[in-house]
Amino acid sequence: MFCIADVLSAEQLREVRRLLAEQPYQSGSKTAGWAATLVKNNEQLDPKGKHFEKLQQLIVAALAANEVFTLAAMPKALRPITFSRYTSGMGYGDHVDNALMGEGNRIRSDLSFTLFLSAPGDYEGGELMIEDTLGTHDHKLDAGALVLYPSDTVHRVATVTSGVRQVAVGWVQSLIRDPRQRQILFDLEVLRRQLFQQTGKTAQFDSLSKSCSNLWRMWAEP
Ligand code: NI
Repeated sequence: MFCIADVLSAEQLREVRRLLAEQPYQSGSKTAGWAATLVKNNEQLDPKGKHFEKLQQLIVAALAANEVFTLAAMPKALRPITFSRYTSGMGYGDHVDNALMGEGNRIRSDLSFTLFLSAPGDYEGGELMIEDTLGTHDHKLDAGALVLYPSDTVHRVATVTSGVRQVAVGWVQSLIRDPRQRQILFDLEVLRRQLFQQTGKTAQFDSLSKSCSNLWRMWAEP
């Protein structure tokens, strides 16, 4: 699980909020599976809205430019970003995300993310709560920050009791399917960069780079 600050700059955030203002929203139950629809109570930006494509591009570009996101998720493919809104009384109860998403060009959801577009002070409640073997983790991040988490978790959004919670959510199919392998490659890449900073391009650096590349060859699903 990763929390990544400042995925959107203050300027990008202003632009996203401006584009979202006065856009048509529809009930989130339209895109929920038959079980999730029982607990999903939010609104989503209508993909036919006039700024939908621009918003997609803006968020996808910000994700691609974020080194931590790219290193941690190792994205192969993304689902179109969903822009969700929760007003007072709305929430999203316990559910699991669908394993396969989309029609035609389907992706496997390995990782889910929530990019917070509202500041924590803009609403009461609305925490993203993710269960794993260590317990439940609550996330209510600053505007512009993102939480990246495994798609195979049970998670929920606590009911918003006042204000408005706006988020962008998305799903990633990773080049590295196994989370343990992804973790190893992430750790080694961080080490490799630290080694380069400390000692430059030495024989040890090249040797470590070779091992990293060979692990990628063994594990990647490009
Ligand atoms: Ni979900």
